Amino acid sequence: MDQDAMKRQAAEAALAYVEGGVIGVGTGSTVNHFIDALAGIKGQIEGAVSSSEASTERLKAHGIPVLDLNATGELTLYVDGADESNARLQLIKGGGGALTREKIVAAASERFVCIADESKLVDVLGAFPLPVEVIPMARSHVARALVELGGTPVWRDGFVTDNGNLILDVHHLEIQDPVALEQQINAIAGVVTVGIFAQRPADVLILGSAQGARTLT
Ligand code: A5P
Repeated sequence: MDQDAMKRQAAEAALAYVEGGVIGVGTGSTVNHFIDALAGIKGQIEGAVSSSEASTERLKAHGIPVLDLNATGELTLYVDGADESNARLQLIKGGGGALTREKIVAAASERFVCIADESKLVDVLGAFPLPVEVIPMARSHVARALVELGGTPVWRDGFVTDNGNLILDVHHLEIQDPVALEQQINAIAGVVTVGIFAQRPADVLILGSAQGARTLT
């Protein structure tokens, strides 16, 4: 079974958590499978709150209404992928650059179901370069602060987030204390969001594998 089939398997397993109402929907290739699967039961939900322009477009193409988070109140369910997860379901996200809206929708949701192929489960977060969304004028200042923290930031040149900001991908971090590093990086002036999801980790992690989908809580 290839990696994409494992992603699809995890995405389809997440349908079991859909209980109607408005669903928070993340971003990425795994979530794209979830959106496609959600289309099959769209009559059972009111609509979706989307974390990116890309997911909005895909949801609309399937005829799933996309709603404004300001109009829905808190959500019961958020489904999204991840770039890495540890066994405590603390995540690195933002490989697709949608981390800020993803963190907002995750924070506004009662239950966060993360979907991924099994390669995303790691012992220690940080082998995947950590995305940090920054205000453009603060790029160099934030990069210097990230070097002080032991990382090697690389500007994702040519990429602009849905919010009009930039991304620094921080290499060479071994994240032993994800909650502390999330707080430290978020405290740097000019940082919009760091892609560590540890203060609000996932509640459920569904991992696709050749042996079938397995669930961690
Ligand atoms: C998007 O910004 C990310 O947080 C994605 O959730 C993450 O990169 C996972 O993407 P894939 O499902 O494409 O692996």
